[in-house]
Amino acid sequence: MRILIIGNGGREAAIGKKLAEDRRVTQIFFAKGNATTEQIGKNISLTDNRELVNFAIREAVDLTIVGPEAFLVSGIVDDFTKAGLRIFGPSKKVANLEGSKAYSKKFMQEYGVKTASAQIFSSYVEAEAYLKTAQYPLIIKASGLAQGKGVVLADDKDEALKIIHDFMIAKIYGDAGIKVVIEEYLKGFEASIICFSNGKDLIPCIAAKDYKRAGNNHTGPNTGGMGSVAPSPEFTAAHEEDFRKNILEPTLRGMKDNYLMFSGFIFFGLMVTDKGCHLLEYNMRSGDPETQVIMPLLENNLLDTINDCIDGKDIELKFKDEKAVCLVMVSGGYPGKYQTGYEITNLNRVNQSSVLLAGASSKAGGIYSAGGRVVNLVATGASFDEARKKVYEDAKTIQFDYAYYRDDIAKF
Ligand code: AMP
Ligand code: GLY
Repeated sequence: MRILIIGNGGREAAIGKKLAEDRRVTQIFFAKGNATTEQIGKNISLTDNRELVNFAIREAVDLTIVGPEAFLVSGIVDDFTKAGLRIFGPSKKVANLEGSKAYSKKFMQEYGVKTASAQIFSSYVEAEAYLKTAQYPLIIKASGLAQGKGVVLADDKDEALKIIHDFMIAKIYGDAGIKVVIEEYLKGFEASIICFSNGKDLIPCIAAKDYKRAGNNHTGPNTGGMGSVAPSPEFTAAHEEDFRKNILEPTLRGMKDNYLMFSGFIFFGLMVTDKGCHLLEYNMRSGDPETQVIMPLLENNLLDTINDCIDGKDIELKFKDEKAVCLVMVSGGYPGKYQTGYEITNLNRVNQSSVLLAGASSKAGGIYSAGGRVVNLVATGASFDEARKKVYEDAKTIQFDYAYYRDDIAKF
């Protein structure tokens, strides 16, 4: 089998690594990949959907897997399907559940999916009037895709008015911010539930936990993820039951009613409060860095699981009874301004974890930092303590200027 994986993060490296263990997989292409994926397969620099379709035809690609939401929302699955190519992921219409927070909130409200109460505004004047008499704190979300930056906490009216001005008038995220969702602030812990969809059902993986804030003890700004663990020790069997009844099942009903069934990943971002699980968002893809801790624990053959989903066959997921930890080493300053271009040394001395490079590129025989999130270190163990020790010892070995990582990943 010849496979094409679209994306360039640690998530795509984790999926590629798992597939590369399968002897039936003869070639993996990554568009555009990174310094780890070039060791697993071949990186290609195409990013345009049409060019990717032509590449897949020319190279006789048997299966394409899409990582990032932007490709899905742009309709890459529709383009591949029209060309008769096999692809794992939702169509543009289905991906809109992630691409438009206004649409997904309306969907949740219509089907009784438990979520934060919210109002949707396309008119700045109406949003402004609402904020003048609202209770604070509130969460304000740009409806469209804003590279994970379009969700802001407003502590008071002045902050809120500035945010909607930035989003709706100054258009700092372009058209993504011209519609906003203003919602109740929920306090609790977050959990990420990644599911496989086979076109008939949504089959959940074990819950993962993403460490979103830049600083220790959940302080500092939200990032794309500073680390992750699976299974989430906070997410109990009772939470799982609550999730199935109040979030997963109504979602499935809504998807069936609206002809939104698909094959691919769907990932539920939950906030668990003392009133139970609430859905913050749908992601119509797998998570990063959650994928990095789910893949090493997944016992099923990934290629068979994906193919079965595409063919609409029933699947049953099995996970190892172990713990997985991912530590993300970033360029200091991330998610704000940071510097890149520094050589990453001692990668070959890492001996306890698996290294999945993300924002890193190779040139002239060396590997250099090239993004915010640079290195993912992933380890498993019988306990979180054991897995954590491995990633932190390896992190001490790896050197690059301005490297930074949290000290408290998997410390509970
Ligand atoms: P989203 O893209 O909607 O998942 O939002 C990104 C992040 O913002 C979430 O992972 C939470 O950390 C936070 N967030 C979103 N909505 C809420 C909410 N209603 N209450 C509290 N935090 C939220
Ligand atoms: N880890 C959160 C996400 O992938 O959106």
